[in-house]
Amino acid sequence: MKIIIINGPNLNLLGKRETHIYGTLTFPEFLISLQEKYPHIQLDYFQSNIEGAIIDKIQEVGFSYDGIILNAAAYTHTSVGIADAVKAINTAVVEVHISNTLAREEYRHHSYISPHAKGVILGFGLRSYELALESF
Ligand code: DQA
Repeated sequence: MKIIIINGPNLNLLGKRETHIYGTLTFPEFLISLQEKYPHIQLDYFQSNIEGAIIDKIQEVGFSYDGIILNAAAYTHTSVGIADAVKAINTAVVEVHISNTLAREEYRHHSYISPHAKGVILGFGLRSYELALESF
């Protein structure tokens, strides 16, 4: 099974960014533990701060992978382009968020991606990614 985690802007700063919300673990540290826990799954990872690069990656993997775990971060709330890419591909997308976006500022309550996602997992910290992986 081939699954990819795609992370959007500022998620490269996990571990040092607003640690009271996002925790102190870096994503590469977390990813290694996830890969060790699920050795039978090919679990790839991509992060970009650039909207177009995220769209390119979704298009690249979206016809051959078994699943995409997508945290588009701030682009969740702004990007029609990423939402259209999710809509355009065959691979199922599970949208994840580390924080409970519905318990935060109102501008984080709307997601352009959710209507096209297979499901949405939010608010469980980095465990949100693991729950998404389990769903596949
Ligand atoms: C986030 C929530 C977004 O609102 C925010 O812009 C992020 C991270 C999360 O994982 O909780 O950068 O997607």
